[in-house]
Amino acid sequence: MTNDTKTVAVLGAGTMGSGIATVMARAGHCTILYDIDETNLKRGIDTVHGFFDKSVRIGKLDEAAGRAAKETLSGSTDLNDLAPCDVVVEAVFEDLALKKETFGRLDGIVSASTLFHTNTSTLPVTGIASGSRLPERVVGTHYCNPAPLMKLVEVADGRHTANWAHKATVEFLASLGKTSVVTKDRPGFIVNRFLIPWENSCIHALEAGWGTKESIDAAVLGALGHPMGPFRLLDIVGMDIHQQVATRLYEQLRDPRFFPPPMVERMVAAGDLGRKTGRGFYEYDDTRLFGS
Ligand SMILES: NC(=O)c1ccc[n+]([C@@H]2O[C@H](COP(=O)([O-])OP(=O)(O)OC[C@H]3O[C@@H](n4cnc5c(N)ncnc54)[C@H](O)[C@@H]3O)[C@@H](O)[C@H]2O)c1
Repeated sequence: MTNDTKTVAVLGAGTMGSGIATVMARAGHCTILYDIDETNLKRGIDTVHGFFDKSVRIGKLDEAAGRAAKETLSGSTDLNDLAPCDVVVEAVFEDLALKKETFGRLDGIVSASTLFHTNTSTLPVTGIASGSRLPERVVGTHYCNPAPLMKLVEVADGRHTANWAHKATVEFLASLGKTSVVTKDRPGFIVNRFLIPWENSCIHALEAGWGTKESIDAAVLGALGHPMGPFRLLDIVGMDIHQQVATRLYEQLRDPRFFPPPMVERMVAAGDLGRKTGRGFYEYDDTRLFGS
């Protein structure tokens, strides 16, 4: 272990939590993935392992590095195991009361210098930070999905975030190979202000028959230089999450471009949430959350 190696916990082993845990383990940090649900925790760990196995298979990591990355990761369903953590990143459900309560409980477990990062997409960082007795340690860090592949992280301070916490956060993200973009504590930060209306317009285009999901994905891939098409991306994001984020932003911004198209509600009602349920716009044999 080097001086730069930290003990990091990621709360929530879903799409984002398992992606962020992959980033931490790949950087060599002693990483604890925590979830209240055993099944979700197991799937999150399988997803991280699957990512490193694939990285070895395709020659991006040598075998020793792949094994070492897997060994730095452990799973827990007991919050007390997080006591030694230098950094805690929460990626639990998008629920203000839950996020506040989680940070409040952690206050009594970790040291006063532990950084609290929240990966919220739509909730106020200031509101989440108010759940901690030390709101100065709380910083918004909004990772892009899939977190192991996307370099950008939006950094948003809450009203009481301290300079030391902001600075330590930007330095920590740089050590992970991430690029920080500093933004304000506002609904959707920067990325979702653009991304959500754009994803909605792609869904409207599909509903209107402008193209198939394959042709629209291919057009975006070929012409706009995106790493994947909108429907592949939505399948990774999760239709439930897209619906929730789009609806929350619509409620806050009152801009109709954010309102989710009817197809979203039908897919969520049918349980076609994307990779995590094996079917979204496309079908998947492997329901690990990304990477294999
Ligand atoms: N999906 C995306 O593309 C995306 C992108 C950026 C940010 N986000 C944000 O990241 C957060 C997580 O989103 P997700 O898509 O990973 O959700 P998800 O539904 O895939 O996973 C959430 C996980 O949190 C766990 N959980 C719930 N309550 C918990 C608790 N008290 N303690 C520990 N774990 C708990 C659940 O069991 C589940 O495994 C949300 O705030 C979301 O807005 C999502």
